[in-house]
Amino acid sequence: MYQVGNLVKELSDKHGRARESLMPILQGIVEKHNYLTDEAMVEVARELDISAAEVYGTASFYTFLDTSVRGKYVIRVCKTITCSMKGKAEIIQTLEDMLKIKVGETTSDKMFSIVETNCIGWCHKAPAILINEIPYTELTPEKVVEVIKGYMQKKIITGTHGEKRAK
Ligand code: FES
Repeated sequence: MYQVGNLVKELSDKHGRARESLMPILQGIVEKHNYLTDEAMVEVARELDISAAEVYGTASFYTFLDTSVRGKYVIRVCKTITCSMKGKAEIIQTLEDMLKIKVGETTSDKMFSIVETNCIGWCHKAPAILINEIPYTELTPEKVVEVIKGYMQKKIITGTHGEKRAK
């Protein structure tokens, strides 16, 4: 659990306090702390003068706005139809075997979380996952092992479209 401190105020100053600023503010908090605490959501509600239920409703609707502790690397496995038909189950099995956690869980060293998500827009290259914001597509169990090993060894991993893992 983190202290939200002045972050909500700073983000509200930056994005404004209108209802449409809610998403960028929540994203800003997740960028910094990886997930949203109840305290952070209440603080956002206070700052924007909207109900905490509205903030919570928005946060829980978007799977990218995590409301529980996540690892440094959040692996989002697309569970929508094309990826499901193209081997999503094997991808999840490989990740679970490798990281020794189940979907929804985080490794004890807080490095990796596995979550499922709806379509991430790479259906034409299914199955696809995102690790934080980087997409990896046309995956096979072997490719997944290679990608995760790279993260474990802190190598630079190139995403499907040339994106580099931050660090
Ligand atoms: S169905 Fe998986 S990326 Fe669209």
